[in-house]
Amino acid sequence: MEPSEEFVFKHKGFYFQPDLVTPEYIDSLEDFEIRDSDVFIVTYPKSGTVWTQNILSLIYHEGHRDGTENMEIKYRVPWLEYNINNMDYVHRPSPRLFTTHLPYYLVPRDLRNRRAKVIYVARNPKDVAVSYFHFSKLSVILETIPDFNIFLERFLAGKVASSSWLDHVRGWSTHREEFNILFLTYEEMKKDLKGAVLKICKFLGKQLNEKELDTVVENATFDKMKTDPRANYDSMKSNLQERGKGHFLRKGIIGDWKNTMTVAQSERFDNVFKEKMKDLSSTFSWDI
Ligand code: A3P
Repeated sequence: MEPSEEFVFKHKGFYFQPDLVTPEYIDSLEDFEIRDSDVFIVTYPKSGTVWTQNILSLIYHEGHRDGTENMEIKYRVPWLEYNINNMDYVHRPSPRLFTTHLPYYLVPRDLRNRRAKVIYVARNPKDVAVSYFHFSKLSVILETIPDFNIFLERFLAGKVASSSWLDHVRGWSTHREEFNILFLTYEEMKKDLKGAVLKICKFLGKQLNEKELDTVVENATFDKMKTDPRANYDSMKSNLQERGKGHFLRKGIIGDWKNTMTVAQSERFDNVFKEKMKDLSSTFSWDI
């Protein structure tokens, strides 16, 4: 079944959300001027985007500096393609931090000069599918598919907003040489948050002292973020999340797919995954 046009439109082979962006704006991003100091978080949805936004926000703004207490991370690390807050990206002071779900072939051309930085975060696709399933029931700008089996087929076929997880990860991974890119996984962030923050700092050339580092780590834990109005996306509630009672920060664990997928669904997933990703096994390994 094709996705409803009320919720997605396809442009240049990728599904976007009509509530958030127009084809003309996406086209204009090709010429978007990149500064060497720009940093981009790139993810497929439900892979730890907001978490990474918060970490970058903490590293640049709060781990070592006061005075920006009440600014939400969506203003500090805004979406490149979804400029719903009409921010002036062109005159934004450096270093500019951005977030995007774009596939490798739709990002600004200049990002390929390998000077600006890209942090790509990937998550076990089975957990992504389950998280996405729940989020589509929550968000009014996503099509709700109440039956997980149907959702799973849509997900595997890439017939959801941001298209196929497999194509997204595959594209960024196989074109990694064209970008100045750090690959991280949700799972390594979860297992060793401090190690992941240090890795990010090293990539960014940022030096935090022990106290600053501890502040970043402490404020980036799931429990802390869940109660932090700057980081928990609860402000989305009024316009994007009014459908249900859930929270953007839902469970924040590794392996929740085991609570949702049947053995048959998991095997179906494995077959599609293994076929499509067989030559990439050394880049990403998950307990799937
Ligand atoms: P779950 O739905 O499995 O709980 P994104 O920001 O890319 O949309 O990803 C959302 C997922 O990341 C949600 O997963 C959310 O709970 C999880 N997440 C957000 N912050 C987190 C944190 N600090 N630690 C662990 N998981 C986090």
